[in-house]
Amino acid sequence: MVATLVQVTTPAMWAAYHRIRKAELWDARGRTTPLYNPNHPDETKPNHTPLLFLLNEVGVGTTRLDDLGNGRFCVRLVAIDKAFQGQGLGRTMLMQTLQRARDQGGTDMVVNADESAVGYYRACGFEEHSWNPEELKTPMGEGLTQMRRAL
Ligand SMILES: CC(C)(COP(=O)(O)OP(=O)(O)OC[C@H]1O[C@@H](n2cnc3c(N)ncnc32)[C@H](O)[C@@H]1OP(=O)(O)O)[C@@H](O)C(=O)NCCC(=O)NCCS
Repeated sequence: MVATLVQVTTPAMWAAYHRIRKAELWDARGRTTPLYNPNHPDETKPNHTPLLFLLNEVGVGTTRLDDLGNGRFCVRLVAIDKAFQGQGLGRTMLMQTLQRARDQGGTDMVVNADESAVGYYRACGFEEHSWNPEELKTPMGEGLTQMRRAL
């Protein structure tokens, strides 16, 4: 098994990235507001890196690594394709994301965790920590828990 985290670049990679995120973070949750937007401007900001997690060259997970400055990175929109959940791949993907942030000089990683995923982040070394309450005052921020871990 070869599991690698790569930056999204080709049209096929973008298609897998959006398919997994829409399925796991919107459709599986019955989320309709806001609608999933594959052309959201946050995807192309210079300090944001969309990432696809490949298992034997097949896209099975996604995340985005945002550089918030001063050594802080944020991992956003973390998802593993339903058929591949519960097999340790979410942990591997997150560990590779942490390493990527370290390689870029990161000192800590933060996340806005969905209630159902707080246990996953705890299992991966994160702790509850209010790092920017302003981020929770949006429709997307409702019910999320802010967490942090050192890199
Ligand atoms: C959350 C998610 C990314 C986890 O990925 P995964 O591949 O299923 O997780 P893993 O199998 O690697 O589990 C890693 C650890 O987290 C724990 N874990 C995973 N999901 C969990 C959950 N929902 N609640 C509590 N613990 C969880 C596992 O027990 C494991 O801990 P252990 O090694 O100590 O036993 C994945 O289930 C998913 O995509 N869910 C839907 C989308 C989502 O909620 N994304 C997070 C948005 S903030």
